[in-house]
Amino acid sequence: MLVLGIESSCDETGAALVKDGRYILSNVVASQTEIHNRYGGVVPEVASRQQLTTILPVLEMALEQAGCSWEKIDAVAATYGPGLAGSLLVGLTVGKTLALAHTLPFLGVNHLEAHIYANWLRQENTLIASSTPEHWGYQEGDPVFPLICLIVSGAHSELVFVPEHGHYQLLGRTRDDAAGEAFDKVARILGLGYPGGPAIQKAAQRAEEELLHQQKSVAQARNSYRLPRAWLRGCYDFSFSGLKTAMLHLAEGATESNDGKQVSQYTRMGVQAAQQGIPNVALLASSFQEAIVDVLAVKTRLAAQEYRVKQVVLAGGVAANTSLRARLQQELSPLHIHLSFPAVSLCTDNAAMIASAAFFHLSLGEQHGLDLDVQPGLSLPFIKKSE
Ligand code: KG4
Ligand code: ZN
Repeated sequence: MLVLGIESSCDETGAALVKDGRYILSNVVASQTEIHNRYGGVVPEVASRQQLTTILPVLEMALEQAGCSWEKIDAVAATYGPGLAGSLLVGLTVGKTLALAHTLPFLGVNHLEAHIYANWLRQENTLIASSTPEHWGYQEGDPVFPLICLIVSGAHSELVFVPEHGHYQLLGRTRDDAAGEAFDKVARILGLGYPGGPAIQKAAQRAEEELLHQQKSVAQARNSYRLPRAWLRGCYDFSFSGLKTAMLHLAEGATESNDGKQVSQYTRMGVQAAQQGIPNVALLASSFQEAIVDVLAVKTRLAAQEYRVKQVVLAGGVAANTSLRARLQQELSPLHIHLSFPAVSLCTDNAAMIASAAFFHLSLGEQHGLDLDVQPGLSLPFIKKSE
């Protein structure tokens, strides 16, 4: 089954052709980060108007790169939530119109569910020979149910138990900022630009590589500032706002402490390292990243143990973070729990994941009517514990 996926929930415009929910024929993404970088974050009206001008060229490119004609396409899918209403409207309208024009089934896709299904995507273009429904079930390399999923994106941080396709049980969520949001806000505090996640990762790597170069441990960078972790013991919820506030206070004092003034017990190690030629911003980035990764990795491991799963999947933009991937691997390997995460380009918003999630619903015979509206506040369709 060949599905055309369309993504336009925020500031990325995507179109992709994916076979059987796994095999990418084309996946084109146009990003607006350079435009929003000027404002230090996404400006909704700018984002939706940009979607409008970009979507058709992106779509044409995806069709061209896949080298396929409309006769080969079996269904059209587009994100209908969660996201920015104006941005969602563009992709959803284009998707429904194309389905109508080519008399194809249409499916609206939940963006969060699609992030999870990015774990089913293969990078290589290899196509399986057969596309009969018998081959649509489990295929080698697919994540194995039951599993625990950690969704960490710009707007969401959720720990979810997934017993089978399409069943989601919420274990915990952020009580304030999402992990990606914390990365973005702290990057702004540190003057590192937007999007914050990749910028903080790069700055942290700079500090850690420099310490390695000096034959010291990376832990020195990661612990150079003693930052708070909201463990919220006894539950799987997260909270990152205290950490953000601590970063704000530290960043305000960081430049002064760089030249030796106002050395508090919290900054002493940072100052020592700074005197060894590592910028304070890089040490702050490394310590901040470590504080976030610490909580995410430990809570995910605890959930995997409690729910006795053999598989954990990472989803959302923050899943691209190399420290988070490495730390989770460290937590889960001794327990023989398999960790999977999408390729970096498939962690952030893209349309291949939309086509993948759509495939698993379409193969169950589901589709939406052309009267489907956008749902900016959509969440995963959670089941209760007893269901
Ligand atoms: O999933 P996504 O592309 O968009 C949403 O659905 O929100 O996630 C975007 C978020 C941004 O907050 C961005 O800073 C973060 O993912 N991000 C990262 C990394 N790459 C992207 N955070 C940490 N490390 C990264 N390497
Ligand atoms: Zn996303």
